[in-house]
Amino acid sequence: MGLSSLFLVCVAAAMSSAFVISPPHMWSKLILTHHWPTTFCSMEHCHLNISYWTLHGLWPDKGIDCNSSWHFNSSQIEDLLPDMKKSWPDLLNPSSSGFWKYEWHKHGTCAAKAESLNSQHKYFSKALELYHKLDLDSILKKFDIIPSDKYYTFSQIEGVIENFYGVTPKIQCVHPSQNADVQILGQIEICFNPDFTLLDCERQTTMDEFTKESWDSPMGVGKPSGFSVCDHDMPVYYPSLL
Ligand SMILES: *[C@@H]1O[C@H](CO)[C@@H](O)[C@H](O)[C@H]1NC(C)=O
Ligand SMILES: *[C@@H]1O[C@H](CO)[C@@H](O)[C@H](O)[C@H]1NC(C)=O
Ligand SMILES: *[C@@H]1O[C@H](CO)[C@@H](O)[C@H](O)[C@H]1NC(C)=O
Repeated sequence: MGLSSLFLVCVAAAMSSAFVISPPHMWSKLILTHHWPTTFCSMEHCHLNISYWTLHGLWPDKGIDCNSSWHFNSSQIEDLLPDMKKSWPDLLNPSSSGFWKYEWHKHGTCAAKAESLNSQHKYFSKALELYHKLDLDSILKKFDIIPSDKYYTFSQIEGVIENFYGVTPKIQCVHPSQNADVQILGQIEICFNPDFTLLDCERQTTMDEFTKESWDSPMGVGKPSGFSVCDHDMPVYYPSLL
């Protein structure tokens, strides 16, 4: 066999194995998104007494609304509901399951293309498991990133997360106005490989799809996104309740 044909065989083998591991319709990254209720509610005018980071969603990097006939059914996650209500509340309507239904249809049905997440119970319980494993709220507190009237630098906040988890998060802020000299901490994304090991998130948004995504809630659909990637040079306000 000549060198060039050997090369072709190797390329073909590499391509076919890559295909098996990651078929083209398959996602390759999961984004676990946390939001800060005070910031969310300052924009949406909700009144809540939650002073810890709550789950926003578990989003695969590919696909939206992948199977509209796979209906959300809360009785399949009955055992998870107490934790769901605490860790993944609908900030606009705390007694409703509408937010979970929305997240399942939009993202869960796409995540479900992987065997590890191919049921509602697997999807929601994995999201809760990752959220508790990360324990972001405690880690921020432990390293003195606490809601405060004094401002943080962006790198103080990012640094704590990078140092502790060993990966780059994506941190999103609300920019109250064009000329404001401060930005408000709103959302923190931590990324995972398909095997649920930690992975660097892209610092900057690479897909427009996810810029629009970042404000996804049943009530927020169609509104312009309130969050964007934090400015690295602008002070960050991490607001406490009230
Ligand atoms: C808010 O929660 C705190 C701590 O859980 C509690 O002490 C306080 O009374 C609550 N306030 C309201 C208005 O519910
Ligand atoms: C969509 O979901 C339904 C209900 O779970 C299932 O029967 C069907 O196979 C799914 N379709 C695809 C393309 O995954
Ligand atoms: C919801 O799930 C439960 C438990 O698996 C099942 O008994 C019930 O029929 C489902 N409801 C619908 C509307 O599919």
